[in-house]
Amino acid sequence: MPDPLSLNVQHLRPSETVAISNETKRRKAAGEDVYDLSVGEPDFDTPAPIAQAGIQAIQKGMTRYPPNAGLAELRQAMAADLSRMSGGRPVNPDHLVVSNGSKQAIFNACMVLFGPSHRVLIPGPAWVSYPQIVHLTRAEPVIVHGDPEWGLKVSVKDLEQHHTTLTKGLILCSPSNPTGAVYTLTELRAIAEWAARHEIWVIADEIYRRINYGPKPAPSFLDLPDELLERVVLIYGASKAYAMTGWRIGAAMAPPHVARAIAAFQSHTTTGANHVAQWAAVTAFSDPRVAEDVDRMVAAFRRRRDHVVSRFRAEAPGIEFVEPHGAFYFFFRVDGVRQGLTGTEFCAQLMQQEGVALVPGAAFADDRWVRMSYAVSDRELEAALDRILRLVGRLSAAAA
Ligand SMILES: Cc1ncc(COP(=O)(O)O)c(C=O)c1O
Repeated sequence: MPDPLSLNVQHLRPSETVAISNETKRRKAAGEDVYDLSVGEPDFDTPAPIAQAGIQAIQKGMTRYPPNAGLAELRQAMAADLSRMSGGRPVNPDHLVVSNGSKQAIFNACMVLFGPSHRVLIPGPAWVSYPQIVHLTRAEPVIVHGDPEWGLKVSVKDLEQHHTTLTKGLILCSPSNPTGAVYTLTELRAIAEWAARHEIWVIADEIYRRINYGPKPAPSFLDLPDELLERVVLIYGASKAYAMTGWRIGAAMAPPHVARAIAAFQSHTTTGANHVAQWAAVTAFSDPRVAEDVDRMVAAFRRRRDHVVSRFRAEAPGIEFVEPHGAFYFFFRVDGVRQGLTGTEFCAQLMQQEGVALVPGAAFADDRWVRMSYAVSDRELEAALDRILRLVGRLSAAAA
């Protein structure tokens, strides 16, 4: 018998989405005809001015340890970007800590705020890593299921039902992975007021904020007044909107004492984010040419979103789905395609019979649903949609 591992990892499971993506890559490498719509990663290359800034940083020798909490230039550029998106509201760069991706920013925030005996509410369906990260702090993740009639979003009433004296936090993601739903400012305000009343910390994951199909970036906690931000850690980053997933740049914006604790914690784990990537990210958040590239990418995601929605409406009218308003995910329900069909069964059949990888809702705590990412080329999206809708058609006909 090998030695048991630490209690720290008693709930640890590898990320399901990463596992599905690896399996799809393996099949592709073996020459199989497969489409991968499982990953949450833009299909676009990093915009050229950002890549150029990275190359220049290497050439200029920016290859030593970075400042632990992030380059002053990067925190300044991120603060200015956050301020711009929220109508010029002041954002203090000293309250930002830059990390290796927003995933590390979320982990840092949870580690400094939550611990044994705490309960942390997570609206479900939820991104795979939230419950795992909460477990790593030895707190207890509590999934609060959202209302299908309401884009699977949660209301204050839902949160109140799960609230106890041990509730210490809430992790809210908008625009949402996996559903694409976006909370309105009124909804965010109600949740922020509820959390403030109960002295609950909110980790507001706004990594997809810029990928919003309304006229502006998605509503944000930063659009709320200061008094509602006293217990809010805002998560932001470069991965999704700037097509920079591999550069690993994210950030947490927190009240000063929490930002200091996050920086201290990070100083003992990673010594800050990759130095070269930080210089590249300065260009991402401040260069107007990049802002135009981001607009173009968001427009492409919007066009694909419209296409997916219209094909599902026309060719699978009985299928329920969450109206996607942001991010690049389409979340549809399969338990009605054939009575009791699970997302896991649907995805297994889809891979075996049609060679398309999607993510079963089980990965997000609700296996009645399936997530499709449309951050793939138009050609791949069209071919994959043909196959997905073909399977839906076959299953529906067999059930009729
Ligand atoms: C909701 C959500 N938050 C955070 C992340 C982490 O992104 P990164 O660490 O690349 O910034 C992801 C990535 O898939 C995500 O979907």
